[in-house]
This record gives sequence, structure tokens and C-alpha cells, in this order.
Amino acid sequence: MLTTEEEQCWLLEQARIIAKNAYAPYSNFHVGACVLYENGDYFLGCNVENASFGLSLCAERNALSNAITAGEKGPIRAIGIVSLEQKNCLPCGACRQWLHEFASQTNSDLKIVIEDNDGEIKTYKISDLLPNPFSL
Ligand code: THU
Repeated sequence: MLTTEEEQCWLLEQARIIAKNAYAPYSNFHVGACVLYENGDYFLGCNVENASFGLSLCAERNALSNAITAGEKGPIRAIGIVSLEQKNCLPCGACRQWLHEFASQTNSDLKIVIEDNDGEIKTYKISDLLPNPFSL
């Protein structure tokens, strides 16, 4: 189902609020994500870094982990992603694979919502951001 512009703005607003909680002393790059399920439930995540850089967690995967931990099993409607430092903040490759996992397992028509460099809201399908994904 298509998300409305109002819903997309709301998703980005939530992502921006939670980005302020990011623990990002190494990159100073603060990211927030809000994942919205078709049942109306939503979950937030921010990035959490570590002195051992490779152990850092992305905002998107934290939001999805929060949802799964809370027992969400249904289709995802959309995820909004915001960085406080940079517009056009698209999910990294690992997060694309995570989004693909839950989109494919729950038959989600998942929209990835971001603000582009011109301040316009852009939506993407996971199949466009991650063509030919790994699947089991
Ligand atoms: N980061 C995210 O949270 N999401 C992404 O999709 C890209 C990168 C975080 C990881 C790291 O803490 C910081 O941004 C810089 O890479």
C-alpha cells in the first residue's frame, strides 16, 4: 500500500527525534530510523558505535531488532531514515539485506523513506535498492 505524504513526514520526524539519542562519538554521524508496520505499530532505532569500529550498529537494524524483540511478525509498511549531519541518508548494504529479510518473509510492500539533497521526500522499494539479494 502506498504511504501518504503526511505519513512520510511523520516517519522522518520520528527518525529525526531518535537520531538525537545516537551514540556516535567516533563518526559524529547521528542516524535515526522509524519502522512502521501495517498494523500501525512502530519502532525506533539509532546507531550505536563502539571503540572497536566494526562492532557499531546501524539505526535501521536497531529499529528492526526492537520490533522483532517486541514480537512483531507482520508486514512492514515503511521505514524512515534520517541523519542529523547529511541529507539523502540511504541504508547501508547490511541494512538493505536486513530490510530484504523481513520484507520477503512477511510479504511486505516496504517503502524506504528519506529526505533527498533538495529537501524533497523520496521513497524507494527494497527491490530497487537491493536487486538480486541473497536468500536462503
Ligand atoms: N549508519 C547507520 O546508522 N545507518 C546506515 O545506513 C549507514 C551508517 C551509522 C553507522 C555508523 O555509526 C555511522 O552511521 C557512520 O557510518
